[in-house]
Amino acid sequence: MLSLDQLIADYGDQNPHSQRLFKRAREVLPGGNTRTGVFVNPFPIYIDRGEGVDIHDVDGNRRLDFVNNATALILGHAHPAVSKALCQRVVSGTAFFSPTPLEIEWAELLSARVPSLEHLRFCSSGTEAVGNALRVARAFTGRPKIAKFEGAYHGIDDPALISYVPPVTPALGPEDAPNAVLSCAGLAPATAENVLVLPFNNARACERLIRHNAEELACVIIDPLSTAAGMALPDPEFLATLRAVTRELDILLIFDEIVSFRMASGGTQAAYNIAPDLTCLGKVIAGGTPAGAFGGRKDAMALYDPTDGSPAIPQSGTYNGNPLAAVAGLATLKAMTADAYRHIHDLTRYIAAGLNDAFKSADTPGSIVVAGSLFRIYFLDHAPANYRQAARDSSEKHRWLYFYLLNYGIAIRQGGCVSLPMTTDHADRLIEGLREGLRVWPY
Ligand SMILES: Cc1ncc(COP(=O)(O)O)c(C=O)c1O
Repeated sequence: MLSLDQLIADYGDQNPHSQRLFKRAREVLPGGNTRTGVFVNPFPIYIDRGEGVDIHDVDGNRRLDFVNNATALILGHAHPAVSKALCQRVVSGTAFFSPTPLEIEWAELLSARVPSLEHLRFCSSGTEAVGNALRVARAFTGRPKIAKFEGAYHGIDDPALISYVPPVTPALGPEDAPNAVLSCAGLAPATAENVLVLPFNNARACERLIRHNAEELACVIIDPLSTAAGMALPDPEFLATLRAVTRELDILLIFDEIVSFRMASGGTQAAYNIAPDLTCLGKVIAGGTPAGAFGGRKDAMALYDPTDGSPAIPQSGTYNGNPLAAVAGLATLKAMTADAYRHIHDLTRYIAAGLNDAFKSADTPGSIVVAGSLFRIYFLDHAPANYRQAARDSSEKHRWLYFYLLNYGIAIRQGGCVSLPMTTDHADRLIEGLREGLRVWPY
């Protein structure tokens, strides 16, 4: 048996330089942190460099990385095609107050891969993509409210921070008619009143709530793989119902594919054969640089068209369509051929089978959910269908496994994702890591 306290003590011994850096960071950053999601108690690991499947930290530890910057790095770290494209571009200028041809090529490639993206625009993050998509929906329909799913993360714009992984308490209300709860201080007044919260995978309740609010509802936004809310996979009929009811009521259906775009070259919408009205993109499409994109129906995106005078929606952004992001994104998307997707999907299934077998052999409750190259570990007997079920998972067990695997030389975060350079050797290391961990499992 290895206690969590012992694991954290070993972690401290293994990472003295990171610990010192965190102390220094606390002098200038609140709690030493500038990205909430990367915070680790008692201190995070500071990275020196990434190479392919590995990250190297400032203490000289090398770890096999299944996090890949929160799924963004589908080619792993410093992929030669991306590094070359960035190096070539950087000496020709990094940003201009004019467009470059690169933004057209980038948009053409995305539009070709995602047919629902008739017209699209670039921005600097997934948060911005979502903020813009919600604004288009309100402007296009003339209605004030948006609907989102309980637990879902869509970045840090005000409406997105309603019912984002809220603690499961009676304050959440009935499962089939969840309350809209604030997940953040400082939101604009009346934010919650303008957000309808829907239960994931409950087609009947969603249809009822959407119909009831139809006159005020501009859009329904969904992360189709529910990635932050536990990665509950959508029932295809549930997605089909959402599509049908929103279409019937002229409510825009927005797919937040910022993570779920990993599913296929055309995203989860291609995998499930659903065409949303608008799509938000980020992460993978920018090859490890900060960018996002949003788009969809031409008639809705026409609100941004400046050629007839001032557009109804102005969207400036110093780094929109930035050439560095464009070359990194293009290099990444071009490397992601059909064979490349097949490879990472097969490998993810292989990992899931191995991890499931490790749980079974150790007679420990555990299950693995897979979507394309994403996998999520649950210390539950069954894969959850929605946020409230996913929230029953044990955060303490995840914390134990996180530190165990970090000390062992592997980075995961309650699961992870496969990058293109990974092979079965890397997959076997993770599977063996879990097997060994379960031999000293204290629960
Ligand atoms: C589903 C989803 N939507 C939106 C975002 C926000 O993207 P960004 O961090 O680029 O602002 C994220 C980020 O993790 C995400 O996972």
